[in-house]
Amino acid sequence: MLLIKNGHLIDPASGVDAPMDLLIVQGKVLQIAKPNQIKAEDDVKVIDASGMIVAPGFVDVHVHFRDPGLTYKEDIQTGAAAAAAGGYTTVVCMANTKPPIDSVETFKEVWEREQKLPIHVLQAANVTMGMKGQELTDMDALKATGAVGFTDDGVPIADEKLMVSALQKCKELDVPISLHEEDPALMISPGVNKGKVSDALGLGGAPEEAEYVLVARDVMLNQKIGAKLDIQHISSKTTVEILRQAKAHGICVYGEVTPQHLAATEDLVLEKGALARVNPPLRTEADRMALIKGLSDGTIDMIATDHAPHSAEEKSEPIASAPSGMIGLETALGLVWTYVVKPQLASPKTVIAALTVNPANLYQIPAGKVQENASADLVIFDPNEEWTVPETFASKATNSPFIGWKLSGKVKYTICNGEIVYQSLG
Ligand code: DOR
Repeated sequence: MLLIKNGHLIDPASGVDAPMDLLIVQGKVLQIAKPNQIKAEDDVKVIDASGMIVAPGFVDVHVHFRDPGLTYKEDIQTGAAAAAAGGYTTVVCMANTKPPIDSVETFKEVWEREQKLPIHVLQAANVTMGMKGQELTDMDALKATGAVGFTDDGVPIADEKLMVSALQKCKELDVPISLHEEDPALMISPGVNKGKVSDALGLGGAPEEAEYVLVARDVMLNQKIGAKLDIQHISSKTTVEILRQAKAHGICVYGEVTPQHLAATEDLVLEKGALARVNPPLRTEADRMALIKGLSDGTIDMIATDHAPHSAEEKSEPIASAPSGMIGLETALGLVWTYVVKPQLASPKTVIAALTVNPANLYQIPAGKVQENASADLVIFDPNEEWTVPETFASKATNSPFIGWKLSGKVKYTICNGEIVYQSLG
């Protein structure tokens, strides 16, 4: 039994944005009531949440836990620990593992292990066999085995005909298809924006048109199909505008943005080198501001981290050969609070919706809400506490370009199924 007292509950799903106490019994939220109205037994454990925000546990529909096959970077246990430390109680793992998750056999093996973790770890499966973009996976069987969505994240799907078939199949199965949009034909070198920084470093760079041309294609291909098309890690202002227009025309499309694209620009590459290399790349201040605007006006639906662990050895290679990606679960709240909410560019409610109910709804996950008699999956955070991003993480990896950054907004407790799965010691 747990009583959370004196906190400020923000639950975008129900519209509650007010001081509330919560009583948790046997893994569920038994009661939500105005302050000091809950009568609990004497032996109840009390969390004093004075000055803190209580919200649904965060939901991240875009993480790489590298399991199976790449567990020197991360595994499902350390990934889940990093998620809990970041305030997340539900995550969806991407499928670019080794082997990739393109068969029921591979899916089942990791899925069974994921059921035993302290938070809800869900699994996506591949759109195409071997992520080669040539032949669809057995999506019927993979969905029946538990796949919550389909993605070849990490690798764009170039073939239009295959894309049409994939969209049609995902429509039929009523599952999201989540796409990494960087047209290989337009890429010079991935991971750094094509512009002043790629020029300064003598790299070809990843032009923004590589992203928005493919997004425009897939949005238009989906116009008549109406699948739940999820554009992953949007980085370019033009992509935001394409989604805005598509939504205005009634086309079914959803957008994800990462905390790193909301908080940083290509300049970070000059400072942090390969640690700031990511696909799609950090771009310009105009892109960053357009992403924030898209989030605040509902064009972008979800904040998803693209938590992408790599080893220190891999990331110490020269920028042209180091792998792209950065970890993100443990810095997500701090980055978004510091660079979006504190400067009042979007409201706490909008940001929390993008971290909770919006991704849960798209993926049809029973999460992202605070409801009586539902599973007690919660985060408690201090919106004002300042902290410096440390050099070590709950994640197995340390590839964050934000180490040393001073952020506001600190996760204090993460509660999943009524159990405290993370408590900040600081
Ligand atoms: O930079 C990236 N790294 N972008 C992706 O989409 C995939 C990820 C990875 O798997 O490392």
